Amino acid sequence: MRHDHLIGAKQLSRADIETVLDRAAEMDADPDEYGDALPGTLLGLCFFEPSTRTKMSFDAAVKRLGGDSVDMGTVESSSVKKGESLADTMRVIAGYTDGIVLRHPSEGAAKLAAEFVDVPVINAGDGAGQHPTQTLLDLYTIRENAGLDDLTVGIMGDLKYGRTVHSLAAALTNFNARMHFVSPESLRLPRNVRFDLHESGAVVKEHTDLGAVLDQLDVLYVTRIQRERFPDENEYRAVAGEYRIDADTLARAPDDLTVMHPLPRVDEIAPDVDETDHAHYFEQAHNGVPVRMALLDSML
Ligand code: NCD
Repeated sequence: MRHDHLIGAKQLSRADIETVLDRAAEMDADPDEYGDALPGTLLGLCFFEPSTRTKMSFDAAVKRLGGDSVDMGTVESSSVKKGESLADTMRVIAGYTDGIVLRHPSEGAAKLAAEFVDVPVINAGDGAGQHPTQTLLDLYTIRENAGLDDLTVGIMGDLKYGRTVHSLAAALTNFNARMHFVSPESLRLPRNVRFDLHESGAVVKEHTDLGAVLDQLDVLYVTRIQRERFPDENEYRAVAGEYRIDADTLARAPDDLTVMHPLPRVDEIAPDVDETDHAHYFEQAHNGVPVRMALLDSML
């Protein structure tokens, strides 16, 4: 893959995606074989929002490649708290590191950061914008379970604020997917995302009821209602607890349906689903390490 920065999933071609996933599969098969891939490489972890999986899997990935990481810590403990601009923080951290992984509450933050630094910037989530590395591990998981071409994919939950959805949908246009988006009226896909999907020629349908499409799906990608992005807590309460699946829901699904979720889940997937053969979300989280190893290896 030849990109200076990874900002959004739209910049990934089918060939880029396949290169990363193939390399990730090699690394997944033999994770201890790559300890000399990035000796001395230092990755800056800059998380202005909470993270468990994304941050720890980037950290694990760079260390498994023989590199190391430095961590900005929480916003509360950093100079951001003193009013430092993102541009200044990024310039300084770029001087300490060979690459920056950035998560930030503002949409467009990674793109902006990339303008101020001369090391690669990887977007680990920018507000309700994009989360392209999550998409790579989602695609890896989909490929392992269902193949990647000609799938019928259901994407359910918070389609408005869910950045993982925006990135995944863009990437799936490379693989001739039929996409069914299931959400309450108030959390439909943003207009710009819908526009891009239509422009790409993708087959896209929107629904308010999962029952309308469940029996056609190869993959069901469930997402959390992004409480932290609602301007008004009452609006959140109006939709919280909707669009929840349990083992009973899945009794009407195809036997080989792959259920995914970027995690963390709150209550949108009941624990009884974990025991079914449909559940692939923990495996999906695990795939974050080999996929991010492959990505770092190609970008740094
Ligand atoms: C997601 C995120 O941060 O966008 N989490 C993740 O990276 N796996 C999804 C979410 O927070 O709901």
